[in-house]
Amino acid sequence: MYKGLLHTHTLVVTLFLIHYIVKTVLLVGNKNEKLANYSKKTKVPEMIISFLFLLTGIGMLAMGAGTNTLFFVKIALVVASIPLAVVGFKKSNKVLAVLSVVFLFGAYGLAEVSKKQKSEVKVDTSNMAASNLEKGKLIYQSNCTNCHGASGNAMLAGAKDLTISTLSPDEAKDVIKNGRGSMQAYPTLSDDELSGLVEYIAVLKK
Ligand code: HEC
Repeated sequence: MYKGLLHTHTLVVTLFLIHYIVKTVLLVGNKNEKLANYSKKTKVPEMIISFLFLLTGIGMLAMGAGTNTLFFVKIALVVASIPLAVVGFKKSNKVLAVLSVVFLFGAYGLAEVSKKQKSEVKVDTSNMAASNLEKGKLIYQSNCTNCHGASGNAMLAGAKDLTISTLSPDEAKDVIKNGRGSMQAYPTLSDDELSGLVEYIAVLKK
């Protein structure tokens, strides 16, 4: 469900960007007649695309997408680009129109960057005199609950339900260390910490 939403959102955002680039190029190139013609022809599709843009974005947010700061910067950029675009095209102001496209592109770029982001582990257990399980629990509670929830079955932002995971310990360690799909990688975790996390996930299954 979340993945379908994400793919639809990406498609809609791409169409939206292409559409605004065409409009901006026409505006900057003083092709006013062409721009008026293009805007008229694309009025209804533009409304549909803008609506889907919002709808899929809100849907993803409702399913727990907003788990990092980059995400909020992205939303701020998109929100800021809307009045710029509206005023820019209404008043044929090239600077504002170009700026709105730059903002949109910035947001798009940030989304790509955050996908490839490697996560820093928010707790350092390397000097703790604790068992692997205790370390795993600490790391889990400070890094994984955003998406998997305290009980492992929250399934936010498209996360898998860990309480019914059928992965072997080695497979689970691989997913945690290297990331998979929209789950980021935790490459700095030690073998002990990874074992601890897998042990803690086993506890959550009970
Ligand atoms: C940003 C949200 C997010 C965070 C934070 C996160 N996960 Fe995930 N996790 C996911 C998603 C999404 C998937 C499904 C990946 C896929 O296959 O597309 C997943 C899958 C997994 C799986 C595989 C489950 C299976 O049965 O396939 C394991 C194990 C796992 N996560 C453990 C962890 C651990 C441990 C942490 C903390 C160190 C963590 N995750 C943090 C989103 C997250």
